[in-house]
Amino acid sequence: MAPIAIYLLLIIILLPLFGLLFGARPKSDPRWPSGPRPLPIVGNLHMLGRLPHRALTKLAQEYGPIMSLRLGHVPTIVVSSPRAAELFLKQYDAVFASRPIFQASVYMSYGAKGIAFTPYGDFWRRARRMCTLHLLTQAKVESFEGLRTSEIEVAVRRLVEAAAAREVVDVGERVGELVEGIVFKMLVGKSMEEDKRYDWKGVVREGVALAGAFNLADFVPYLAPLDLQGLTRKIKAVSKAADEMAENIIEDHLKGEDFGQQTDIVGTMLAIMANPNSEFFSTFDRENVKAIMLDLFVGGIDSSLQTIMWALSALTKHPRVMKLLQEELDAKIGKHRMVLESDLPKLAYLDMVVKETFRLYPVGPLLVPHESMEDVIVDGHMIPKKSRVIINFWAIGRDPNVWSKNAEDFYPERFMGREIDVRGRDFELIPFGAGRRGCPGIHLGLMTVKIVLAQLVHCFNWELPNGVRPEEVDMIEEFGLAMSRVNKLLAIPSYRLLDTHS
Ligand code: HEM
Repeated sequence: MAPIAIYLLLIIILLPLFGLLFGARPKSDPRWPSGPRPLPIVGNLHMLGRLPHRALTKLAQEYGPIMSLRLGHVPTIVVSSPRAAELFLKQYDAVFASRPIFQASVYMSYGAKGIAFTPYGDFWRRARRMCTLHLLTQAKVESFEGLRTSEIEVAVRRLVEAAAAREVVDVGERVGELVEGIVFKMLVGKSMEEDKRYDWKGVVREGVALAGAFNLADFVPYLAPLDLQGLTRKIKAVSKAADEMAENIIEDHLKGEDFGQQTDIVGTMLAIMANPNSEFFSTFDRENVKAIMLDLFVGGIDSSLQTIMWALSALTKHPRVMKLLQEELDAKIGKHRMVLESDLPKLAYLDMVVKETFRLYPVGPLLVPHESMEDVIVDGHMIPKKSRVIINFWAIGRDPNVWSKNAEDFYPERFMGREIDVRGRDFELIPFGAGRRGCPGIHLGLMTVKIVLAQLVHCFNWELPNGVRPEEVDMIEEFGLAMSRVNKLLAIPSYRLLDTHS
């Protein structure tokens, strides 16, 4: 008999036993939060559907803001209100600051040796400290202004050509090229196109897609060897390509004559590690370095790109908001020049548009799962060690109890005169998470989103093609590591400045 058939037979024989063991609640503790009854084996997995953030929002309306589920074999808590999120990410942050290990991170992060999918511990603390103290600081981000400006100028020039030809452009493709260009250059000092050895873009895009894919093996581990979805095979293939790419990037940096003076983020990281006076000297092995680097690619590109796409989609759908934003840009900057990064603090309406985009279309609707490191009682609920915690920020962002009855409307003015911050202080708006696991790339993310969005809206009007009306622009989402649009956003740019590009 083929090994796979033996395996299947074993599973069939053992199924009822597993059902008894794992279909029940984790403990008969009445303090375990309430939630829908799990089925044997799958638990509540079948209830998640293709858009788990929406399914979980509906369930929370029945079971409350701290709800329990069993996903496959994993006891899971779903948190769906600002107050509950504050309990988990602030008051008990130290208990919930770990991450579950996923199959993708085992292969793509060399056994969870990076940051984003690495359990809490000494290594994660040091790697994260290096990011927040040296790699992703506000000063470091600001030091890349020239790079961002020249990448944006190239993209604007290409769009001016498209505008002259009245070309219908795939906005996602253009914004994708621009953001990938900016982030890749900041990270490794050159563009993806410059180096023809690999399909860099393909590897990063495939890695992001696989890291965000729903993988049955993460929830029902004994099914892993069957690779029913074919994901293990794909993850292994992309990990191999990503490893070669990471090796080459490291070697190119180490061989470079200017090693130590390089200002890109990977170069900075390698120089810090090679410096005997640094606290990070000899702290990380080669696999750690590669895993951290790949985490920065995965975390750095898609999140900013998809946020910009949601904002542009919402603006095209809501011409009133687009007009107000362009009026602000005209008043504060004028039509004779492009936006400078130093203009951004003056652009209050832009800030509100970005916040409103994060609220309604968060790229991380469920943030990244957390895991408890010990048994703890939260708000009277017993949460056992190794429970998975999902923060449903999507539900919080659309909760009428938090945002009043027009919660579903794209209405940036709701932030006028309200001191709501996105950096993890105000739990009704946590697009970057909060606490120990909050996003370390927040400065870079906000800067990229704001400058690209401001520039595209200042330089161009965006007309919908083929008589499509603004209200017909769809906002259908696809769940993944970074939530994206399902359908392309197509538009005809027309240049609106009065300078030399025209
Ligand atoms: C608009 C842009 C961005 C958004 C909305 C965003 C959002 C997030 C979210 C929701 C988390 C998980 C927080 C949690 O689990 O509580 C996260 C984690 C993370 N992000 Fe970002 N992010 C953005 C940009 C970036 C950038 C530019 C980088 C780096 C180049 C980055 C690197 C990371 C890393 C390494 C983590 C894992 C942190 C940890 O586990 O300790 N992100 N981000």
